[in-house]
Amino acid sequence: MAEAGVILAATGVVKRFNALVVLDRVDFTVGAAEAVGIVGPNGAGKTTLLNVLAGALRPTMGTIRFRGGDVTGAQAAERCRLGIARSHQVPRPFGAMTVFENVLVAATAGGGFAREAAHDRSIDALDRCGMLRVANRRAETLGLLDRKRLELARALATDPIILLLDEIGGGLTDAEADELVGTILELRKRGLAIVWIEHIVHVLLQVVDRLVCMSAGRIIADGEPKAVMADAAVIEAYLGGGVA
Ligand SMILES: Nc1ncnc2c1ncn2[C@@H]1O[C@H](COP(=O)(O)OP(=O)(O)O)[C@@H](O)[C@H]1O
Ligand SMILES: [Mg+2]
Repeated sequence: MAEAGVILAATGVVKRFNALVVLDRVDFTVGAAEAVGIVGPNGAGKTTLLNVLAGALRPTMGTIRFRGGDVTGAQAAERCRLGIARSHQVPRPFGAMTVFENVLVAATAGGGFAREAAHDRSIDALDRCGMLRVANRRAETLGLLDRKRLELARALATDPIILLLDEIGGGLTDAEADELVGTILELRKRGLAIVWIEHIVHVLLQVVDRLVCMSAGRIIADGEPKAVMADAAVIEAYLGGGVA
């Protein structure tokens, strides 16, 4: 049985790609309205963990539970309806559609909202991400920064209970990073649980309650953010991985 307050739990998760073990018996939990950061060198398995949580990949072994139910066999679309939304590290909007249309598809197909509710949700999601100004542009004309914001808006439009974010902050100026932190803190106030993979640790630390560090497919530290950053195994993983 899950611990009290835990809404999302991965237990004993292994993911192999042929001989390559990318997740090696990972146990990971997120509490209701909790914000958890994930750091770790490139190739550590962070995106793969997010894929397994969101249903884009099936684990080789282990289980994923969400709000008391076993979702290990549930497709991504089904998990999205249950309240698990994610952004992609490499944004992939429908390029020929407008920004608004992209978000509307997420609200209807992903969130299950009917026409008018989907419309209102989409406007709200765009507003929260500062994207109303480009709502009528074709998605393929956006720069990388706005594509990342669009990823966030699409995830929000599904009205999630938990948001899984994969490197949405890379390449931001200080002002843009502050704006993003403001947006995420606002979502926290509304009670969303958040899992945020990010290399920019000082940005992450403004938002998260807990920090997890992954290295070579394992969770090597999990706890209070500053304590995790000071952990000897974490420092070693970063030096060994050559990523700051
Ligand atoms: N579909 C795949 N097939 C084979 N190997 C993969 C696949 N996806 C990821 N990997 C490998 O798994 C490891 C972890 O990747 P990833 O989860 O993207 O790491 P991170 O997000 O921490 O940088 C890497 O060695 C990567 O090459
Ligand atoms: Mg990644």
